[in-house]
Amino acid sequence: MSHRGHLSHRVASTSGAVLALLLAGGAWAQPESEAPPPNLDFDNPATCAPCHAAVVAEWTRSMHAQAHHSKDPVYAGLRAVRMAKEGAAVAQGCDTCHAPRAAGPDDLSPAATNGVSCATCHTTAHVKAQGQGAARLVPFEDPKMIQGPNKARPGMVAPHGLGGDPPPHFVDGMSLCLACHEQLVSPKGVTLCNTGHEFGGLGGAFPDQRCIDCHMPIIEGPSGTVDRDQAHASHSFVGPHHRWTPAEQGATPPQPVEVEAAFDGGLLRVVLKNGAGHGWPSGFPARLALVKLVGLDAGGQPVWTNFKDDPLAESPESVLNAVFVDAAGKPTLPPFSVAKQRENRLRPGEARTVTYAVPAAVKAVKGKVLYRLVPPPAVKLFKLEGLPEAEPRPVIDFEVAR
Ligand code: HEC
Ligand code: HEC
Ligand code: HEC
Ligand code: HEC
Ligand code: HEC
Repeated sequence: MSHRGHLSHRVASTSGAVLALLLAGGAWAQPESEAPPPNLDFDNPATCAPCHAAVVAEWTRSMHAQAHHSKDPVYAGLRAVRMAKEGAAVAQGCDTCHAPRAAGPDDLSPAATNGVSCATCHTTAHVKAQGQGAARLVPFEDPKMIQGPNKARPGMVAPHGLGGDPPPHFVDGMSLCLACHEQLVSPKGVTLCNTGHEFGGLGGAFPDQRCIDCHMPIIEGPSGTVDRDQAHASHSFVGPHHRWTPAEQGATPPQPVEVEAAFDGGLLRVVLKNGAGHGWPSGFPARLALVKLVGLDAGGQPVWTNFKDDPLAESPESVLNAVFVDAAGKPTLPPFSVAKQRENRLRPGEARTVTYAVPAAVKAVKGKVLYRLVPPPAVKLFKLEGLPEAEPRPVIDFEVAR
């Protein structure tokens, strides 16, 4: 799908392109003999924009830029609930992934509020195999050093250090992501987030696709004035929030679910095929997807639905989610649970058939797959009422005639 071949080409190529860049007037990027680099604020991505504008604009729209509690109401909601129940200290643990450069849970400086910032990823010298969260991101000894997927071109000057050969985590397209996305287990031993393990490395459901192939697709245009290529890796990190945020420029990941529906006598068979490299939904354990069906009679009037008010009770097979329970067996928020009682999300590579008995009067069915960031009870608990994030958004529509 993406064209990453040019990246290795970029690593290898040399002076011809430097010349092309200078002719093109690459504003600040100059041969070593000229202007000394200005002092750069690593925690303010706006200061990267003169040279890396496209990437800065994409990142600004991404959830990595919103990962701090001052910007993401869903995260802020659960964080507040957990602080109220477990004490304020719990917030420090959240920061390791949501705001790794914060000085503490009360820090409201740009280093904190910029969440998973440029510096979080690009000052990383290596990723530790053990441990959890951003404790796994080990920074360069030189705090001014920056590294990306390419070797710096000879003679280029930047207001930051430039590395030589890129570290492996920029080459393998996965291990940097796994530092925060691999797995999160609660103190009670309940697995909350498991995206990395679901993905299972190369050779999984999509054998040649890595995290970045789907979430950082190569899109048109240079990444900024210092780039000599006409394409770059998108930094929108598109995921489910793109349904709530402004349109992304050609950087949508593959459709998460394909649907095929067909009547078979009195039965409607709906096949849901997972298009993600991991489970779907994945990540934050409260996510849910919902298959909603409306049956129309010969006159086109709605005469049947697969559920009315409570999908989980009326048509549990229509709900792709997980349910976590407390010691009394009552549903609760995943971090407070002692066990996972239900697991009905699509597995990686899964094509699942869900069968519905549809009354004879129904001549056609209109269907929708909807996605919710959080289920209705959590909307209340996180104080999200009235916000767009509280409502479901459509993923895909389909229609089938009898
Ligand atoms: C979550 C980690 C992460 C964050 C945050 C991040 N980057 Fe990147 N960046 C990457 C990865 C991974 C690549 C390599 C992608 C590839 O191999 O195609 C990359 C590539 C780049 C490149 C080269 C792009 C190209 O294809 O030519 C530039 C320039 C860059 N990043 C700058 C930035 C800036 C500036 C910011 C902040 C606005 C930023 N990055 C934020 C992970 C990140
Ligand atoms: C004045 C221009 C300038 C500014 C401002 C600037 N950079 Fe750079 N950056 C460069 C140059 C020049 C290169 C090397 C390009 C090359 O050799 O191809 C570079 C390379 C990079 C790379 C490596 C990209 C790759 O292809 O591997 C990353 C990542 C990066 N910069 C991040 C940042 C971040 C983050 C900031 C803001 C904190 C920033 N830069 C600010 C000029 C700048
Ligand atoms: C084959 C493509 C593909 C690969 C490979 C892939 N993803 Fe995804 N990912 C998707 C799709 C599609 C979605 C759903 C996006 C949507 O809802 O529109 C998704 C969703 C996500 C989400 C949000 C999950 C949720 O429901 O809240 C995260 C986080 C994520 N991916 C991280 C990763 C990481 C980390 C890797 C590598 C370990 C990875 N992905 C590999 C395609 C992929
Ligand atoms: C320092 C930790 C960290 C690293 C490293 C990291 N992420 Fe994330 N990522 C997060 C956090 C935290 C969120 C959730 C932000 C929120 O919703 O508040 C997130 C969210 C996402 C999402 C969901 C976006 C959406 O629309 O819901 C995707 C997709 C994603 N990351 C992909 C990646 C990929 C690909 C990489 C590797 C290049 C990566 N991440 C590296 C911490 C990280
Ligand atoms: C090991 C890294 C890590 C730690 C520690 C962590 N998170 Fe996250 N969190 C993530 C990632 C990665 C995502 C994105 C998953 C996805 O998009 O589905 C995320 C997403 C979320 C979301 C969903 C946000 C949204 O916009 O939908 C909430 C809520 C959340 N985290 C709360 C917390 C709280 C509260 C803490 C601390 C008690 C915490 N997290 C600690 C990695 C972490």
